[in-house]
This record gives sequence, C-alpha cells and structure tokens, in this order.
Amino acid sequence: AIEAVIFDLDGVLADTAHFHFLAWRELAQTQGIDFDETFNECLKGVDRMASLELILRQSSRNYTHEEKQVLANKKNQHYQQLTATMTPADLLPGAREALEAVRSAGLKTGLASVSKNAFFILERLEIRDCFDDVVDAALLTHTKPHPEIFLTAANHLGIDPSACIGVEDSLAGITSIKAAGMFALGIGSANVLTDADLVIPDLRHFLLNDYAVN
Ligand code: G6P
Ligand code: MG
Repeated sequence: AIEAVIFDLDGVLADTAHFHFLAWRELAQTQGIDFDETFNECLKGVDRMASLELILRQSSRNYTHEEKQVLANKKNQHYQQLTATMTPADLLPGAREALEAVRSAGLKTGLASVSKNAFFILERLEIRDCFDDVVDAALLTHTKPHPEIFLTAANHLGIDPSACIGVEDSLAGITSIKAAGMFALGIGSANVLTDADLVIPDLRHFLLNDYAVN
C-alpha cells in the first residue's frame, strides 16, 4: 500500500518552471545561443550548474569556471526577481487540494526539488507546513535524474520507496523516481513523460484512490 507522496515543486505545485525558462532563455540569448521550449524540457529537474553546462555546450566558445559562476549567478538573480512577488494565489490549480488529500488519507508528504530556491518559494506560497519533509537541495551530491533526492525523501519520511508515489513534470524527475523504485505520476503530457506509470494534465486530476491501491 502507498504510505507517502513525494512532490516536485517547480512545474508541479507552482508555475515556477516558466520563470526558470524565461531566465535561462534570456541568459542564453546574451551568449548568442538559441533556446526554445523543446530544449528547455531537458533542463527541467536539472540543477543550476548542470543546466548551465547543457546550455553552454551549444556554444562554440569555452567558458572558464569563473565565467560560469558569473552566468549562473545572473540567471539566479533574474529568477529571484521573477519569483519575489509570488503569493499563495500562484499555487497551480489543484495543488493545495492534492496536498490536503494526501494528509487526510493519513499518508506522509515530502518535497523533492533540486532547486536551492525551494524553501523561499515554499514560504512565498505558504505551504511549508504541508510537508512532513523537505529535502535540502544544498545537501545533495547528485541532480535528477539520479535517484538520490527521492531516496533521501523516502528515507527522511521512514517509508520504503516501494510504498511511495513520486509526482513530477520533468523527464529527469520521472527517471529519478523510477530509479528510486517508486510509482511515477507524471504531470503534463504522456507524449513527453513516456516513462511515467501514469500521466495527468495537472493536479486537478489528482485522485489518490486511483494510485493508493492496497
Ligand atoms: C528545479 C527546476 C530546474 C532548476 C533547478 C535548480 O529542478 O526544475 O529548472 O534548474 O530546480 O534550481 P535553482 O533554483 O537552484 O537554480
Ligand atoms: Mg519540476
């Protein structure tokens, strides 16, 4: 039986995936690098420096470590500007109801985001208290698609991974969930999230009883 649901943040609970996209696209453009929504799919769920590496790989130029730090900081400043004024009204439709449904069913809730801005966003959205555990991205060694983050969340919750559902909007995230041995619930399009166990368009379609089969 399912005993915990572990949520991704960006693109699942809030539309911050779009802000990451805008900030990366502007940065890529300053470097003369093409950037579109299709390429952006590969960056979702991937941490800041690894995302930057994927973008800069499109350039013929070589970047020093210092230059990369400057670019990563610029992107983050832009992202922080875009998210600074978020409020609970920016929760995606169905997000609060899904979190409440998990708690009401007596299951544990976890948050697994590799974003170092996750705690700030949770404060803006006023949902920190909805989680029994929030993994601190600063303490991770690997980004998604490695399973470390979902395994860490399950471990903190004291639940076997096989009794967890992971909820994700990214390709890297679904791979991470499956590698952790969990049920992968995709948010978005089944054409994109091909490895998910089930895909729903958004959390308004979250029906715990469909997944928490005993
Ligand atoms: C999430 C997002 C990614 C983002 C990563 C790091 O996984 O899906 O798009 O690159 O977090 O975010 P950060 O806020 O630490 O730069
Ligand atoms: Mg995401």
